[in-house]
This record gives sequence, C-alpha cells and structure tokens, in this order.
Amino acid sequence: QRNVGILAMEVYFPFCCVDQEKLEEYDKISKGKYTIGLGQTEMGFCDDNEDINSLCLTVVARLMEKHHIGYENIGRLEVGTETIIDKSKSVKSALMQLFEESGNFDVEGVDTTNACYGGTSALFNAIAWVESSAFDGRFALVVCGDIAVYAHGNARCTGGAGAIAMLIGPSAPLVVEPGLRGTCMRHAYDFYKPDLTSEYPVVDGKLTVKSYLSALDACYQTYCKKANKHLKSKASPFCLNDMDFMVFHSPYCKLVQKSLARLTLNDFLWNNTSLYSEEDCMAFEKLEEFETTSLENSFFDRNVEKAFMAASQPLFQRKTLPSLLLAKRVGNMYSPSLYGCLASLLISKSASELLHKRIGLFSYGSGFAASMFSMRVVEDTSQFTFHRLVSGLLDVQARLDERKCLDPAEFTDVLARREKAHAKADYAPSAPSDRLFPGTFYLRRVDDKFRRTYERT
Ligand code: ACO
Repeated sequence: QRNVGILAMEVYFPFCCVDQEKLEEYDKISKGKYTIGLGQTEMGFCDDNEDINSLCLTVVARLMEKHHIGYENIGRLEVGTETIIDKSKSVKSALMQLFEESGNFDVEGVDTTNACYGGTSALFNAIAWVESSAFDGRFALVVCGDIAVYAHGNARCTGGAGAIAMLIGPSAPLVVEPGLRGTCMRHAYDFYKPDLTSEYPVVDGKLTVKSYLSALDACYQTYCKKANKHLKSKASPFCLNDMDFMVFHSPYCKLVQKSLARLTLNDFLWNNTSLYSEEDCMAFEKLEEFETTSLENSFFDRNVEKAFMAASQPLFQRKTLPSLLLAKRVGNMYSPSLYGCLASLLISKSASELLHKRIGLFSYGSGFAASMFSMRVVEDTSQFTFHRLVSGLLDVQARLDERKCLDPAEFTDVLARREKAHAKADYAPSAPSDRLFPGTFYLRRVDDKFRRTYERT
C-alpha cells in the first residue's frame, strides 16, 4: 500500500475547564507560575459521569458521523490509553458497542498501554496492519484517550483530559514517512501508576523532565541518522531545517519550547545550525562558549537553556507555536496530547502553508518509551482529501470557546467526587447536566458487578 497515513481525525475534550490564573490564586502559589512558568491558560476536566470508555465512545461516534463512514468499513481498531478502569477488559471492547448495528465484529486490535506513548504505539500498529499481508482493504481506526488527574500538589495544574480518533489507510493526505523513525525505550520510575485503588500517578517531576529531554536527544539522533540514509536526494546532513513543523507531546507548553531549543542545541553541537537559513543561522553564531556543552549534563543548565531558547525563538514561533492551541487550553491529555498538537497545527495554518511540508512528531511516554517520526502533507489522493481532513477539525476553536470555566473550588470538588467514584461498584454517577457537550456519551451506572452502562446526551 502506498501513502499510508491519516485520512481523517476527530478531537474530543470535556466541556468543563478551570482557569490557570484562578488556580494559581486558589493554590496560593506565586502569580505566573502556571500561566507563564508552565505556559498554560486553562485545564479541561471530567466529572464522575465521564470515564475512559465514554470519552472514546464520544470521539469515535463523532468521527464516524462527521465523515459518514459505516462501521462495516473498519477492519482494525486500536486504543492507546493509560486510564485503566479494568485490568482485563479493553476500552476497545467497550467501543465494539458502536459496531452492533452494522453487524461487523471482524475487527482486529486491542488496547496498548505505556503512559502517554500508547497512542503512538497504536498508530504504528495500525500503519503496520495497512502495510501488511493481513490488510483486507478496510480502514484502521486509532483512538487515544486519557483523563489526566494528579493528587493535590504541584503536579495537579498539569492535568487535562480528552480523546482523539484517527482514520488510517492508504492514499492519505497526511502520510507517515516510511523508514523515518527514531525510538528510545528504557526503564525509569519517573511517572507510574502502581496503586490501582487510585486514579493518580506517582510522579518524580524532575525525573520526568530529564527523561523526556534525554529521550528527545536520543530519538532525534536516531531519526537524523535514518533520514541521512533514507533521503538519498539530500546532499547535506538532516537537521531541524528539514522539518517544516515540529510538534511534541506536550505535558505543558513551556517544556515544548525548551524541547525545540534542545533540538537546536543538538544541531549546534553537530555544526548543523550552519545549515539553517541565513537569518536563523546568525542567531547561533555568537554561542561559541557552548561548543563543548555535554548533552548528558545540560538538562537543567540554566545558561544553556536560556541561550538556546533565545536563539531558537523565531524557529519556535514558526515551526511549533501554532501546534499548541489545544495543549495550552486543555492541558496534558496524555496519550492524545501529541495528536492534539498535530490537529492544532492543521487548523492554525492555511492549506498552502502546509501542503508538501514535513511535520516532525515527538512522542514521549513515561516509564519510558519515546519515538520521533514524521508525516508529509500530500495533495489530494483519495476521497479523503487534505481539505476534508482539515474541515472536520474546524469546529475545535468554537468548542474551546464554548466551554464552561468552573471555579477552582468546584474543580477540587469534582476531583474529590472522582476519587470517591474510583473502582466503585453499584454506583450512580452525577446525572448528565448542561456540563456536557451535546452528543457526548456519559456513564449512566456501574452495577453491583462493576458493569458500566452509557447513554448519550
Ligand atoms: N512566574 C513565572 N514563572 C514562574 C513563577 C512565577 N511566579 N514561579 C515559578 N515559575 C517557573 C519556574 O521558574 C519554572 O520554570 P523553569 O523550569 O523554566 O525555570 C516553572 O515555573 C515551573 O516551576 P517549578 O518550580 O519547576 O515547578 P514544580 O517543580 O513545582 O513542578 C512539574 C513542575 C515538575 C512539571 C510538576 O508540575 C509535575 O510534576 N507535573 C507532572 C509531570 C510532568 O508533566 N512531567 C513532564 C513530562 S512527563 C508527562 O507527560 C506526564
């Protein structure tokens, strides 16, 4: 199969959010920490009547309806999530309720879990299926969803929630570039969820940042090596200049800006900033004092960070900032975060700015698992045109603005309610209210055998 990639996508985020500036006041921390220090404006959250199944049911139903796709046309369905409500039963199996009417149960795939990386693993699996001998001509569907909540403390402001569904197939307008992938998988206890009685992770904040940045270095180096080998038309080494846009898993927007700067540090140490456009290149000319910087020892080096953030500012503005709309206003959706950045980029730029361009993607999941890969925007090659893909996402901005911002005290009450509801049987969640978008699936009841039933607003 040729040009395998994303044909269509849909984004779901919750109707309720909390304003980060108000949260700063409520948490009695210094003004500007969440908004300027971390770069966040709002954080989305769900009440106890939404769970990972309902989020994924909503996003899949919306995608299928919006694009008029029949469920009989799906041959593989993969879910990436770290929001575990059952140690055995997959979210994918809950999604099969949507297939009942079509009578199509010949659908491969189950769930994939590793922190925020599950969605990327699901995407890679779906692409491999379309490219394989098992492909039967139908589409694959990749769903990533999570509810990111933290215990009271300094990580709580970096939560979020949402789900993204992507239709995968050949002749796609967003083609995943074959052979161009750099992966780094290691063992770390930076963020993990060993306590199944709680929704909250155990987090070593500093180690998560160090792990994220070290994975970024490793994936970029491997990606560049492979790009140098595969892109035979290229005479000069691959560098950031060859990525027209660069999107990242976004736990908070400031880390993304630091990450873009980090890629320029890598390029600088390989003398590749000289390959940037004349204007971009000039910004790095006065940084000789950093020529002996060690990547391994500079994760928290303020001088290095400051110098490269400043030098890469115009590159950040052009290549990455347009991808941060959802990350800034919804927060860390975990596994859908990277794909929320991709969707944000697609709606922030015009078709002429995107066509024929390369988009680099960096996926990181704690624990740790990370990959860098790339997509190319190609001209209309199937019924799923680039125009159609983008048109399907154009309601995102209006939905973001339509949300209800609740007071931090109410947000705290909701999280307390979720804590109480977690892992409970014979439980009736809050009734659906005007705090759900129309067409949202919600959890109606958990019966005495932990069986969950859903309805739709
Ligand atoms: N005005 C402006 N900036 C401020 C202010 C202020 N009043 N106060 C603090 N800041 C800045 C700090 O200088 C810092 O910026 P810097 O790193 O550029 O110097 C930033 O705000 C954050 O402040 P810290 O003191 O470093 O924050 P803290 O240690 O309390 O927590 C952290 C931050 C680690 C991200 C925490 O929220 C956390 O653990 N989150 C969850 C883990 C996470 O998201 N990790 C990222 C990758 S893994 C993943 O995706 C889950």
